Amino acid sequence: METNKNIFLIGFMGCGKSTMARLFAEKTGAELMEMDETIEAEAGISINEIFEKYGETHFRDLESQLISRITKKGGMVVSCGGGAILRPENVACMRENGIIIYLSATPETIYERVRYSTNRPLLNGNMNVEYIASLMEKRLPRYKEAADITISVDGKEKQEILKDLTQLMDK
Ligand code: S3P
Repeated sequence: METNKNIFLIGFMGCGKSTMARLFAEKTGAELMEMDETIEAEAGISINEIFEKYGETHFRDLESQLISRITKKGGMVVSCGGGAILRPENVACMRENGIIIYLSATPETIYERVRYSTNRPLLNGNMNVEYIASLMEKRLPRYKEAADITISVDGKEKQEILKDLTQLMDK
């Protein structure tokens, strides 16, 4: 693995980006970046509060600024927010110095993982498979287009996904 490159994990909310980024960073010794956590730490408030107080566009601006900083730095394993690929300029920025890995999952898998979560503003009040499926359908072309590599996570244990990831990155 080229050490100056970033590895961006993308995919729908709850597909396991944070966990897999942490495990992959531990395995490779690369620096870990959890985008949502970083945005929260820098803003001093939660993602829910950023959406409530300043709106989604402001959150997306913070996301874009962070991606641009990550690209300048390099060498990180990055867990992206689920919507980080919505702006084409973000994807272009990731591509400049990174490999983009899409963790794909069905709406049912996602629902099982996020059903008790309250810190995802887009799902608050919309916590059902139908809503997840409709949002996923809208986003699927973006995820697919952005991805250099796709890994399906349905029915897989973390260690199995880590193995897939490691093997694909070694190629
Ligand atoms: C979002 C996903 C969230 C977070 C925000 C918006 C999205 O991140 O960035 O709530 O638009 O899909 P996770 O994918 O880490 O839940």
